Amino acid sequence: MVQGALKEDALKGKTILVTGGGTGLGKAMATYFSELGANVIISSRKIEVLEATALEINSKTGNPVVALGCDIRNIDEVGLLLQKSIDRFGKVDVLVNNAAGNFISLTERLSANAFSTIIDIVLKGTANCTLTFGKHWIKTKQAANVLNIVTTYAYTGSGYVVPSAVAKGGVLTMTRSLAVEWGKYGIRHNAIAPGPFPTKGAWDRLLPGDLAAKFDFKNRVPLRKSRRSPRIS
Ligand code: HXC
Ligand code: NAP
Repeated sequence: MVQGALKEDALKGKTILVTGGGTGLGKAMATYFSELGANVIISSRKIEVLEATALEINSKTGNPVVALGCDIRNIDEVGLLLQKSIDRFGKVDVLVNNAAGNFISLTERLSANAFSTIIDIVLKGTANCTLTFGKHWIKTKQAANVLNIVTTYAYTGSGYVVPSAVAKGGVLTMTRSLAVEWGKYGIRHNAIAPGPFPTKGAWDRLLPGDLAAKFDFKNRVPLRKSRRSPRIS
């Protein structure tokens, strides 16, 4: 087992909700939080995927992992997500806004609905979760943490994924804004910007067909030596 950065039971007694926690990076984070003793809630649209992941993590760590279906584009569903989380664990200490949608496309080929779909998931979905949980924490005077998952192109912009770049830039600005505005309530805001990870969700949509082989990282290493990271499901 890889040695993690934090000591055993570092998250004991904490409840952490990861949106998009059934797959990819969300699943990897949820697993590590559970290994560190946290109560974990994973949510997304596909309940059967979530339930399989919850079972897998729980059988590995022995700690509670709850799967809750929720489309973060729907504010009523997000309200229910909060309610069910409180019913199960009494409180939520950390919200990880990880759920996202993306695809590669020439921007001039995008329909208005294609553009809106990504903005609705990434920017407005993150806002729905942050507002719903934030209002609850302020009302109940609970200190809490929000971790937003952005990308390196939230800072730089990027062609061919323009709706995602615009939305992630918005999430980064929201992170910085609320870190200041809600700091007085003890609600911390942070964002992390991972580099490219070969998750199935990202690779199928960003490097479809033969693009994955064509842009394989190892071809960019001058000595052609690579330690490929395992593909995260
Ligand atoms: C152009 C596309 C398209 C594509 C969909 N659309 N795919 N347009 N190119 N490849 C258009 C459709 O034609 C439609 O517009 C509109 O987008 C909505 O499509 P739906 O399929 O109805 O949307 P929905 O079922 O809500 O699914 C959302 C989705 C899907 C984003 C399209 O891929 C999804 O569920 N993704 C979730 C997981 C994900 O994307 N993970 C990757 C995150 S990776 P019209 O006009 O026809 O109605 C990531 C990496 C960042 O973020 C950084 C990497 C370095
Ligand atoms: P992923 O496995 O596809 O994860 C995205 C998750 O979001 C899925 O579990 C999906 O589950 C969920 N989701 C999508 N739309 C949703 C909605 N409307 N409501 C609720 N959940 C929804 O991809 P990933 O690579 O792990 O990405 C995770 C995060 O890391 C994203 O924020 C992504 O932008 C970021 N990131 C990834 C990379 C990379 O290279 N992989 C790099 C930088 C940043 P359902 O389909 O069940 O809803």
